[in-house]
Amino acid sequence: MIQIAERMGRLGTESAFEVLARAKALERQGKSVIHLEIGEPDFDTPAHIKEAAKRALDGGATHYGPSAGLPELREAIAKHIAETRGIPVSPDEIVVTPGAKPIMFFVIMALVNRGDEVVYPNPGFPIYESVINFVGGVPIPIPLVEETGFGLDLRELERRVSRKTKLLIINSPENPTGGVLAPDEIERIAELARHYRVPVLSDEIYRRFLYDGRFASIASLPGMKDQTIILDGFSKSYAMTGWRLGYGVMPVPLAGHLTRLMTNSVSCTATFIQQAGLAALQGDDTPVQTMVEEFRRRRDLIVDGLNRLPGVTCARPRGAFYVFPNVKALRRPSKEIATYLLDEGGVAVLWGTAFGEFGEGYLRLSYAASREAIQQALDRMGKALARLL
Ligand SMILES: Cc1ncc(COP(=O)(O)O)c(C=O)c1O
Repeated sequence: MIQIAERMGRLGTESAFEVLARAKALERQGKSVIHLEIGEPDFDTPAHIKEAAKRALDGGATHYGPSAGLPELREAIAKHIAETRGIPVSPDEIVVTPGAKPIMFFVIMALVNRGDEVVYPNPGFPIYESVINFVGGVPIPIPLVEETGFGLDLRELERRVSRKTKLLIINSPENPTGGVLAPDEIERIAELARHYRVPVLSDEIYRRFLYDGRFASIASLPGMKDQTIILDGFSKSYAMTGWRLGYGVMPVPLAGHLTRLMTNSVSCTATFIQQAGLAALQGDDTPVQTMVEEFRRRRDLIVDGLNRLPGVTCARPRGAFYVFPNVKALRRPSKEIATYLLDEGGVAVLWGTAFGEFGEGYLRLSYAASREAIQQALDRMGKALARLL
């Protein structure tokens, strides 16, 4: 009998993958399911990026590379960050990883001791809380408020950040709400971080999916670059979720620790994939812009449609590709509603509490599906919910 280490009991998971598996099982039984549960663009990776990967393979990029990433890619990322965040960045501040998720895992591993407090958004990406618990940290969730477009509850944040806080995590545009932090909210978070000298992990993976206003990174504010870790990557912006390519931007000493974590875990990110990433950064940006415009049309379709459904109200999020409709009027736990919609309505969605306790009363729908599929899902949901009331 294999004995599992006690720490594994503290590791959580992501419900999206479980719901996807259940939905696929229903499909194998012949049931039709519309997938609004998983957070990945349904677009294909742009052709010039795929061509670059093929060329790299044929050119022999099939060997180990440096743990922190290929110098030419780190150079290109440094330039890209300098241009998009307006701060000077050098390649030795960049660590390239297989997907952006390892940045979150490694940063929490590198900064948080047992008993240290970590402040993070709730509802939020479930892996933050999972890894905080895994390393023995103390999770301090900060609720998001629907009335402010799902911004952080700043008063609660002010109460909870202290000398005991070892890391503050923010995510804008946000998964699961689509909320975007306003410039004055980012300013206030930066003030607190500076005052208590707390490093900030700024998850900017949805930066390109912003439907109005300009993107603002906390790293661009005075004094913040030295205490910010930017998490970004290629999965969402370039429809490259399956390629596994992401990166972190951080002060050089921390980059050294993350590089050692890379050496100890996966050695390096696949080299031909990194060359494809270089093509993504340096090549034609039109496919990304076309994709984002289509997402904007889908957002409007799904928000308008949801607001016509019985018992549902839905704010119009400014970013990402998720909506977080309020279903409190249905007077049932959100998990029960989501399960009912899959079993009885043939629509796979996630329940708000899959993203933390403050997600109760909401569902999360990803609109990474065609407009036809979204319309059909809305029709199915309308019929199913009418039977619930
Ligand atoms: C908020 C957030 N951060 C990071 C990631 C991880 O991205 P990647 O697929 O590059 O690991 C995701 C993916 O769903 C996400 O939603």
